[in-house]
Amino acid sequence: MTYHPVPYRPARLPAAEATSNVAELRQRMEQRRSVRMFSPDPVPEDAVLDAIAVASTAPSGAHQQPWTFVLVSDPEVRRTIREAAEAEEQISYDGRLGDEWLEALRPLGTDAVKPHLTDAPYLIVVFQQRFTLDSGGGVHKNYYVDESVGIAVGMLLTALQVAGLAALTHTPSPMRFLGELLGRPRNERAFAVIPVGYPADDCVVPDLRRKSLDEVLVRI
Ligand SMILES: Cc1cc2nc3c(=O)[nH]c(=O)nc-3n(C[C@H](O)[C@H](O)[C@H](O)COP(=O)(O)O)c2cc1C
Repeated sequence: MTYHPVPYRPARLPAAEATSNVAELRQRMEQRRSVRMFSPDPVPEDAVLDAIAVASTAPSGAHQQPWTFVLVSDPEVRRTIREAAEAEEQISYDGRLGDEWLEALRPLGTDAVKPHLTDAPYLIVVFQQRFTLDSGGGVHKNYYVDESVGIAVGMLLTALQVAGLAALTHTPSPMRFLGELLGRPRNERAFAVIPVGYPADDCVVPDLRRKSLDEVLVRI
């Protein structure tokens, strides 16, 4: 591949518009919560597809775009994922996580039962491509895969929030069962399962405090 520059001249926004755009986004994002209690109500599929397309605009190490988003709506597949995830989570909560981790999770009120995996109308299972396989069977290393896929998932969650949809970042560890269940190739490793839908009518979330801007910002 060779370097091929093309012009890039996006319009500059007036300062007032720039400020109000991002202030509005900030307000929306401050309302984002990880939801673990979903309504089975359908959600607009185009919004979910567009959110995945937004995620795929993320920057990536050497532009390798090392991600695959598997969109699961089939209830039988969701049921199988839930069964396998709960089996892993049970082992985790029974001691694999260790006392310190379990203590950190206590304020979230989570346990090994994961109804969101069957209640939410969609699961987006995000895979990271640890390496690329070419058509001749050759293997090529990908760079900064964790960082790239993490940024893409952040953009996915932002887009879903902008669409008024609820989501959870779920990482049932270990996640090898996801690649096997969903028939993914050997260069892909599951990164997260993201249930998407509307919150259940009786949804509750843990009362958590976010750090203020002052606590996270260092100005020099
Ligand atoms: C990398 C990562 C892994 C997470 N894994 C889980 C998980 O396996 N199960 C779960 O219920 N929540 C999981 N969460 C959600 C966090 O618990 C949640 O983001 C945090 O408590 C803050 O709550 P909020 O998202 O409502 O602001 C995960 C979040 C991140 C970023």
